Amino acid sequence: MGKKRATITAVGHYVPDRVLTNADFEKMLDTSDEWIRTRTGIRERRILDDGGSSDLAAKAIEAALENRGISAEELDVIIVATVTPDMFFPSTACLIQEKIKAKNAWGFDLSAACSGYLYALSVGAQFVENGTHKKVIVVGADKMSSIVDYKDRTTAILFGDAAAATLLEATDDNSFGIQDTILRADGSGGVHLHMRGGGSLHPSTHETVDEGMHYLYQDGKAVFKVAVVGMADVSAEILERNNLTGAEVDWLVPHQANLRIIDACANRMGLDKSKVMINIDRYGNTTAATIPLCLSEWWQAGKLRKGQRLVLSSFGAGYTWGSILMRWSFDKAKQ
Ligand code: COA
Repeated sequence: MGKKRATITAVGHYVPDRVLTNADFEKMLDTSDEWIRTRTGIRERRILDDGGSSDLAAKAIEAALENRGISAEELDVIIVATVTPDMFFPSTACLIQEKIKAKNAWGFDLSAACSGYLYALSVGAQFVENGTHKKVIVVGADKMSSIVDYKDRTTAILFGDAAAATLLEATDDNSFGIQDTILRADGSGGVHLHMRGGGSLHPSTHETVDEGMHYLYQDGKAVFKVAVVGMADVSAEILERNNLTGAEVDWLVPHQANLRIIDACANRMGLDKSKVMINIDRYGNTTAATIPLCLSEWWQAGKLRKGQRLVLSSFGAGYTWGSILMRWSFDKAKQ
């Protein structure tokens, strides 16, 4: 008997109600709706006023469990991709476990910024593929508004809050599920995108706060140059090594950081724009949540169908980047 393959068997997401539009930013900062739309593709984003990433994640997981028709007690592992944990410890996974009453699950947080979901999906798949665990929930959850400096127009306009969850289980039919994975890291990129304060190197003090070290820092231009090449390269590479062309891909599911990066990636893969999942206009960059949020929305709309071939691609802080090739295994109607 061959190795088991892991496949996504349920999706669910949660976005907070409050909408922060480009027009709102025009009142707060020296910026314009036109600049934000043309440079990033973003029109609005969601903001969580009360609670932390665990609250976003718990709601997303509950939606996924409902869609699968199972209770939280059936979960074996909770993997949380986040750079905005509620606190250093306990882990966000433990906070979620208590919130959703997943009393038979253990879990942990995983930090890979915008590539967090792909890293976490890859790790979660190992537990399923080696047969040690049956139901692994992988959730990308970030409350980016908690680390964004709303006085900095170069970063404030980019980010939003959201969570989205995917359930991983074994598939009997190996033509479905995760087919191939490429994950990369290059720590030399850390200087361009980071949050320096509050960790063991620079514990929070009045001085670190005065210097704004508790905020996300990004050299947008430097990151853009590497991201646009890195995400396109890895997406093309996963096609090549699986002897596929863009025409054989049903959906590109890209990390939503900038519409221009997404377009470049699709072009490089030879993909028509109608095959690219894009919701950056409505949510901005929700870091670890972007990719599963697309999966959940497209599945809910009945556009993501059983048998379709997907390429998931990301680029983010670290630098971290990667691509996952999968075949989708369930229609909405069957849920
Ligand atoms: N409104 C108006 N003007 C703004 C602005 C805003 N919100 N933000 C920056 N500008 C200005 C800059 O000050 C600059 O002005 P100057 O030329 O007088 O110095 C000008 O617009 C161009 O800035 P620049 O940074 O070159 O813009 P850009 O086209 O590179 O777009 C980003 C900026 C952040 C949208 C873009 O660099 C980006 O998307 N970077 C990568 C993000 C990413 O992928 N991150 C990884 C995952 S998190």
